[in-house]
Amino acid sequence: SDKKSLYTIGFSQCIGSDLWRRNMLDEMRMELSLHPGVNFVYADANGNSAKQVEQVKSMLNEGIDLLIISPNEAQPLTGIVEQAYNKGIPVIVIDRKTASASYTAYVGADNYQVGKLAGEYMNTMLKGRGNIVEVMGLPGSSPAIERQRGFYEAISRYRGIHIIKQVYGDWLKDSAEKQLIQIEPALRTADALFAHNDVMALGSREVLERLGLRKKINILGVDALPGNGGGLQMVSAGKLNASLVYPTGGKEAIMTAFRILNKESFSRETILQSFVIDSANVQLMKLQWGKISSQQKDIERQQVLLAEQREIYNNQQLVLNIIVIT
Ligand code: FRU
Repeated sequence: SDKKSLYTIGFSQCIGSDLWRRNMLDEMRMELSLHPGVNFVYADANGNSAKQVEQVKSMLNEGIDLLIISPNEAQPLTGIVEQAYNKGIPVIVIDRKTASASYTAYVGADNYQVGKLAGEYMNTMLKGRGNIVEVMGLPGSSPAIERQRGFYEAISRYRGIHIIKQVYGDWLKDSAEKQLIQIEPALRTADALFAHNDVMALGSREVLERLGLRKKINILGVDALPGNGGGLQMVSAGKLNASLVYPTGGKEAIMTAFRILNKESFSRETILQSFVIDSANVQLMKLQWGKISSQQKDIERQQVLLAEQREIYNNQQLVLNIIVIT
């Protein structure tokens, strides 16, 4: 029958458990629900690059028509993604990249720009003078590399601002805390802290609080997720001074996937916008988000109703057939 219903899309996620990636998956599922009949295969590597390679291998063996992947670290995943691509399977890279240009499309924000924006915001926040501690993501993951580079390049243009210490927090709250405890002397001379994501920013804040340094040190994070436990809430509660919106791209990835599968034109790079959330705009953003999420709930309710109607219709068809036959 309908050829489109035969597609299988594989999605290899580097680590599925955090709020940001659960949001990404929700966005994907929402968009997928508008394309009924597609087969969606999901694998979560739980932050383990070797495991992710194995999961992609088995997807390729089982047979997929398109691969979406967010590679845990760039280098370890490059080989298998190149293999998929060279086999003729379209590959959409989302958020994190491999170390190669062998992919069909990329969806995500420009992490170099995210870092640069963070550096410029720091300059404004510190009024041109101060010491910064940087809590970076997982070494070897592309957003950590790119955010660090963009941040460094922005900061180095301002002569009164210095990055006095860098630690790797691996994108995780616990790791960030452990690393920060070890650089207490640097923290005592710091004026601001830039964490590559909000969960590490939150861990950093807790350490600073314990050391009695929170009031003195401004904290900037990345992600600014709406909803419970997200960065928007942290900024609005004053836990973080600011955060940069980092869109997940889940919806755009699925839209791009269907354009590719249906042989329609698509953009090779879908670059999503990042911007600063701070006390000046956080209330407005929360309000906007509230509206969007209530509309979202309406759509979900309508889908349930539609499914019920379809069920009723099918049953009536069945009854009709029986009547015709007998
Ligand atoms: C979630 C996350 C985000 C961060 C992104 C970078 O797993 O750590 O917080 O912005 O990944 O890839």
